[in-house]
Amino acid sequence: MSVARAAFLGAMRRVAHSVTVATTDGPAGRHGATVSSFCSVSADPPLVLVCLRAESRIAATVRANGAFCVNVLHETGAPLAERFAGRPDAAADRLDGIDAARGAGGAPVLADAVAAFSCRVAEVTCAGTHLVVVGEVLAVAAGEAAPLLYVDGDYAAARGRPHVLSAPGVADADHPR
Ligand SMILES: Cc1cc2nc3c(=O)[nH]c(=O)nc-3n(C[C@H](O)[C@H](O)[C@H](O)COP(=O)(O)O)c2cc1C
Repeated sequence: MSVARAAFLGAMRRVAHSVTVATTDGPAGRHGATVSSFCSVSADPPLVLVCLRAESRIAATVRANGAFCVNVLHETGAPLAERFAGRPDAAADRLDGIDAARGAGGAPVLADAVAAFSCRVAEVTCAGTHLVVVGEVLAVAAGEAAPLLYVDGDYAAARGRPHVLSAPGVADADHPR
């Protein structure tokens, strides 16, 4: 039997995620949504994933366009995260007035992103209420600025975190120091 939903959600609150905006553009139109379920899958070949609520507009447009970009938000990007979460206006064109350029595959790369991963949709799997969307990374952009985190149900800045050196031997080909 599965763990209780409340216990699952409570434990997940202890997990820190980067806050990103997944964007897309193409025949199905442009759209963007705040996504914290982003992670690296593989370096050879370069693959990432995002989990998108199956019934959401972002899931439908990413799937139809076959391309998306994961834009990792700057530590001051909480207002942008709220806007792309559809607050206060879920129906608005969230990309209207946002400084962005067309990335590889066609999805917008936000000028304010501290890192961006432009992807082609490689695989879509249904899992519970969500689609697991695996993207083949076509191009990246990365700066030096600190990213925005989401932990304990709130936004947090990564800057100022203590640098803890873990034991030698932890690094591997996919997780270099
Ligand atoms: C911090 C944060 C993280 C989120 N992460 C996800 C996520 O990983 N996957 C998802 O489907 N929705 C996530 N959401 C919710 C979507 O951003 C929100 O439902 C949005 O309105 C979806 O847009 P759409 O309904 O127009 O597609 C997150 C929201 C916030 C504020």
